[in-house]
Amino acid sequence: INTIGVLTSGGDAPGMNAAIRAVVREALSKGKKVKGIKRGYAGLLNEEIIDMDEHSVSDIISRGGTILQTARCLEFKQPEVQQKGAEICKKHGIDGIVVIGGDGSFQGAQKLANHGINTIGVPGTIDLDIACTDYTIGFDTAINTAMEAIDKVRDTSTSHDRCSVIEVMGRGAGYIAMWCGIANGAEEILIPEKYDHDEAALIERIKENRKKGKQHYIIINAEGIGDSQGLAKRIEAATGMESRATILGHMQRGGSPSCKDRMYASIMGAYAVDILCEGKSNRVVAHADGKFCDFDIDEALAMTKSVSEYEYEIAKNLV
Ligand code: F6P
Repeated sequence: INTIGVLTSGGDAPGMNAAIRAVVREALSKGKKVKGIKRGYAGLLNEEIIDMDEHSVSDIISRGGTILQTARCLEFKQPEVQQKGAEICKKHGIDGIVVIGGDGSFQGAQKLANHGINTIGVPGTIDLDIACTDYTIGFDTAINTAMEAIDKVRDTSTSHDRCSVIEVMGRGAGYIAMWCGIANGAEEILIPEKYDHDEAALIERIKENRKKGKQHYIIINAEGIGDSQGLAKRIEAATGMESRATILGHMQRGGSPSCKDRMYASIMGAYAVDILCEGKSNRVVAHADGKFCDFDIDEALAMTKSVSEYEYEIAKNLV
């Protein structure tokens, strides 16, 4: 490997800059050249490729977002487009690529690997929904941002004796909702992995809890269930309890990364370069069983994981 490309793809996540910085600095320390590819696979196809040196990544470790910017590139699912991507890499002398993103981004990396470009994926998503790893860059910052926002909603919810339905991100996964549900002491945690859609039972629990003296009610609703406005309206109609919905939205993806995100991003970014230099390709960096490691992308994409049954049950007892 002589020249390593780095790109961020899919939804951005706090800590992506720390990962880019680690890729660049680790690669330079090994005498490699580094090229930054802007706007993910879309930028690759448009040849938005820049040379990077140690100064390109100065002062970015504490910044949210991604200096390389990112995009979701549906076009890259087409085989002829993947081949074009690989040809552009070769044209620019890029023989290894580090792709920072989620499962969708790793699928692109897998295809580039099939076309002879050595690729390594680094898990970057606030959703924590990458099965091979117990940690994804951005999750820690996102849950802390969401937790602080939910505390604020709780203040006003308590003052008004209201029911607050607060929707958090996570796409089809309920990790952000689970963590915030427990950390914010929510009365209900609705996550796609577990929710039985028995709204009558949910309303009955709210009524019972009110009888027992609970004056306000916090419901953390995962984006994968959605319809928070509708749910709040239906709760108000059925219980008489004033209800409001708050959708936290993209604020969860921004902000300066937490110490944990900076640390994991730094190690994972450098690890990706190390294994590229060892000649590995088509791998995803992960953190599993207490250590940093890597998996074959095909195997990683076939793995599944889910929220902890135990934690979910405990959450119910802590209401
Ligand atoms: O994958 C990160 C994420 O923020 C998800 O939680 C959410 O479903 C999605 O991205 C939103 O994507 P977009 O910013 O494209 O609307």
